[in-house]
Amino acid sequence: MRIYYHTDRLILRTLKPEDAPAAFLWCGDPDVARYMVYPVYTREEDVRSWIGSLDPDDPDECEAGFVLKSTGELIGSGGMYFRRDNGLWTIGYNLRKDQWGRGYACEAIGGVLEYVRSRREVRGIQGTFADDNPRSRRVMEKLGMAPVGDITLTKLDGSAAWPGKRVLEDFRMIIRDVEFTLKDGRSALIRSPRDGDIPGMLEYLNTSAGETEFILRYPEECGKYTPEGEKALFDRVNAADNEAMLVCLVDGKVAGNCQIMWSRMIKTRHRASVAIALLKEFWGRGIGTRMFREMIRIAEENENILQMELEFIEGNTRARALYEKMGFRITGVRPNAIRLKDGTLRNEYSMIREIRRS
Ligand SMILES: CC(C)(COP(=O)(O)OP(=O)(O)OC[C@H]1O[C@@H](n2cnc3c(N)ncnc32)[C@H](O)[C@@H]1OP(=O)(O)O)[C@@H](O)C(=O)NCCC(=O)NCCS
Repeated sequence: MRIYYHTDRLILRTLKPEDAPAAFLWCGDPDVARYMVYPVYTREEDVRSWIGSLDPDDPDECEAGFVLKSTGELIGSGGMYFRRDNGLWTIGYNLRKDQWGRGYACEAIGGVLEYVRSRREVRGIQGTFADDNPRSRRVMEKLGMAPVGDITLTKLDGSAAWPGKRVLEDFRMIIRDVEFTLKDGRSALIRSPRDGDIPGMLEYLNTSAGETEFILRYPEECGKYTPEGEKALFDRVNAADNEAMLVCLVDGKVAGNCQIMWSRMIKTRHRASVAIALLKEFWGRGIGTRMFREMIRIAEENENILQMELEFIEGNTRARALYEKMGFRITGVRPNAIRLKDGTLRNEYSMIREIRRS
């Protein structure tokens, strides 16, 4: 993947063979290569061949040179490499020794991550650091990565081995069982959807369409919902880093679901839109409140999100009461946005809940 991207202090760009002399300054430095699995380069021409061997058109690799905006110097390189075996991206970076300790590695990899995420789905990033390399550990911590296990790192030529950690940041928003008690005393479960929920989900979609005029579909418009379609939807939302779906189960039955999603576009990624619906037999038991608590938590954990947004149809007093209770306020009205089968027109209201200011 070719890259040209700006961060505050750096330009991230694809390396070229002419970069070999500058890259040799870190590739040939034993201190930089100490905890790297590849041996230190002893000849500039080997660095040139390494750069020549990179394939900027490979969509699974994004290798970037880090160029200081202030001086135009190339001071390091690194990137992200997709691993087909586990669907995660491995990160790696090297920086010229005289530039250590200024936050450049973090800034550069943060930029590469933003760039790759604007083009590819990134379910998670993984990396390794040596136990004796606190600087690298700090970079990964600042990127939000957490240690998930021990590893022995070995030089590719077998000349040395040392202990280290595997680190991971998982962007997938899989919500595991959140148990709670309904107002009627029954226990309920909120979690990400699983394949076993597909029949219950289809039943819920078809039934709810006929129970309320406050959702957008009529029962006869539910034909598009198929087991295959639901499976594809579940797989997508469970793998995504910019949306999550939650289902609520009561006595094993799908009571309803809710969804939160946001765009990846720089100008709009601070706005998360949410939606919710439940089967009528489960209204008024506190499920909506609990689901909103989870969605608010998801929004709060994603630092880009400044506000949550939703719409409701005029007359939906129950939904409005829930939303106001959860901190939403009405911000606008779209007159006659909804037209029922009998020709009745209804306004649609939009609401916003602030998550943070910046
Ligand atoms: C809207 C919906 C998701 C709410 O979920 P829910 O589980 O019933 O909500 P909760 O029980 O957690 O909370 C509802 C709140 O509204 C209050 N409420 C209920 N009916 C109300 C009414 N007619 N007027 C005012 N408040 C009402 C409840 O007392 C409760 O507040 P409380 O917990 O402080 O007592 C659910 O009713 C539903 O699926 N409706 C049909 C689909 C729909 O309208 N979706 C939203 C589209 S915008």
